[in-house]
Amino acid sequence: MDVLLCGDLSEAEWCMWRDALCEAMPDTRWLGLQEARLRPQAVLAAVVDNPDPGCLQGWPSLRLIQSLWAGVDRLLADASLPADVPLARMVDPSMTRAMQQTALWAVLALHRDFFGYARQQAARQWLARPQLRAEEVPVLVLGAGVMGSAVAEVLRGHAYPVVSWRSAEDPAALERALARARIVVNLLALTPRTRGLIDARFLAALPAGAGVVNLARGAHVVEADLLAALDSGRLAHAVLDVFGTEPLPTGHAFWHHPRVTVLPHVAARTDVRGAATVVAENLRRLQAGEALLHLVDRARGY
Ligand code: GLV
Repeated sequence: MDVLLCGDLSEAEWCMWRDALCEAMPDTRWLGLQEARLRPQAVLAAVVDNPDPGCLQGWPSLRLIQSLWAGVDRLLADASLPADVPLARMVDPSMTRAMQQTALWAVLALHRDFFGYARQQAARQWLARPQLRAEEVPVLVLGAGVMGSAVAEVLRGHAYPVVSWRSAEDPAALERALARARIVVNLLALTPRTRGLIDARFLAALPAGAGVVNLARGAHVVEADLLAALDSGRLAHAVLDVFGTEPLPTGHAFWHHPRVTVLPHVAARTDVRGAATVVAENLRRLQAGEALLHLVDRARGY
């Protein structure tokens, strides 16, 4: 079988993926865009890492688009994406575990005020802060999909009282949950419904001194509103892995804000070996005519 492998990949990254995929599927031919364009009818599937808009058009035999990313918002924003070809997102246990680790680290650091201790160290200040029990720190997890559910589970395992909110629920339920939360962890998919959700009104509904962790997409947050809440002292700290513009521009206020921790979109990177196994299984299913895994509901947006 011929499979197109393309996207926002350097040559070295492309070769790394090709090698991992070849190992998982020795009988498949992996083609870059240029090579594949020579025999477009032969291409049955495309494995894509954030591809440029338009490049999934013009493949007459295409029967599966498999994303190497968990979030498919950028793919769905491409108006030329063939509407009749099934789209699968990446769901890989290694990636889910990485997300659990990042979320647990951020929640622990906010709960125990380890970011405050880092500021104290910079000022050579020896000062013990109050130590709450995990049971006294309610966490609101936005999103109850694969990542959101896994994060809620690991936090519950550490005694945090966790409430999960789905975007399909009504805004009043969100306001009630926000009023009780000390930490909010965002793991929503980016859809028209969730874009800009974390705005001034959302932040004002949180109790004073709360923490925000965004591990989903930058466009969920109205950055100016978040900065205002941090500057006024209402919000204690924000842990941000994703931004409206990535890489985060060097002059952006988040870089040097004392109450912001910046990560360069690494909360859960795609694990090459794990992802190759997932791709292999979906391509096997495609060839065997079996049901495909992790298909995206395009109307829902994830
Ligand atoms: C990362 O943000 C992903 O969607 O895989």
